[in-house]
Amino acid sequence: MNKVYEKLLSCYNQIKQKTAFSPKVGIVLGSGLGHFGDCIKIVDAVDYASIDGFPTSTVSGHIGRFLFGYVGDVPVVAMQGRIHYYEGYCMTDVVLPVRLMCMLGAKKIILSNAAGGINPLFKPGTLMALTDHISSFVPSPLIGQNIDELGLRFPDMTNVYNAELINVLLKTAESLNIPLKQGVYIQFTGPAYETPAEIRAARTLGADAVGMSTAVEAMAARHMGAKVCAVSCISNPAAGLNKKPLTHEEVKETADMVSSQFQKLIYNTIINMEKSNI
Ligand code: HPA
Repeated sequence: MNKVYEKLLSCYNQIKQKTAFSPKVGIVLGSGLGHFGDCIKIVDAVDYASIDGFPTSTVSGHIGRFLFGYVGDVPVVAMQGRIHYYEGYCMTDVVLPVRLMCMLGAKKIILSNAAGGINPLFKPGTLMALTDHISSFVPSPLIGQNIDELGLRFPDMTNVYNAELINVLLKTAESLNIPLKQGVYIQFTGPAYETPAEIRAARTLGADAVGMSTAVEAMAARHMGAKVCAVSCISNPAAGLNKKPLTHEEVKETADMVSSQFQKLIYNTIINMEKSNI
């Protein structure tokens, strides 16, 4: 059997032995946004380290576990801590947790991240719903023998971010008086922040925000037919747009600053999504 699929099945079976919980929605909590866990009525938690073969996160500020529980009445699974390509894992490991959430039953995936603002109107603290992404600077998570059990060899990526879900995000934000912008996210590998020239290039290519995650997870989830939406928390002006050098501390601080708004937005979006039967 395909090695990647074999590992997925092994991780899936181990999780199934630890919990019988069946989530409808999967959520990936980005840098400094892990506090969303406090809004979930937790039924079970599964540490990544307890799953044999599972890649474990090495970034400070990332706890590594799946939380299973309810947001309102909606059964969800949340990833507290994600796996990044710059940690040295291959792309199939990076997207393994998202694939697992889909296999566990999540048909909708909500991704989040902290990102640098490229669009000069997107100041630190801005929340941005992704309308599309540019992933051309990182390897595709779908490279290698196709896993036919998951999806097609040549999946369409015209609508990675689901228009109906974006609409619910926008309506929910409006009802909560939370400003929510829309824009295009570009993923680079990291771990170094970009150079000013790379940011100018990214802007020319049409990107509004830059980060080191999300696009490949969105691709893996779309490959499996999940409906995907994503929100960036702009944590800093991207390289060259500010005099100060970039630091991970600044990213975490800004993400912490807007975390209560972010939590409210995601919490109510999940409830509204299920109400509107998307
Ligand atoms: N660049 C890349 N990734 C990031 C940034 C950035 O400026 N801010 C937060 N994550």
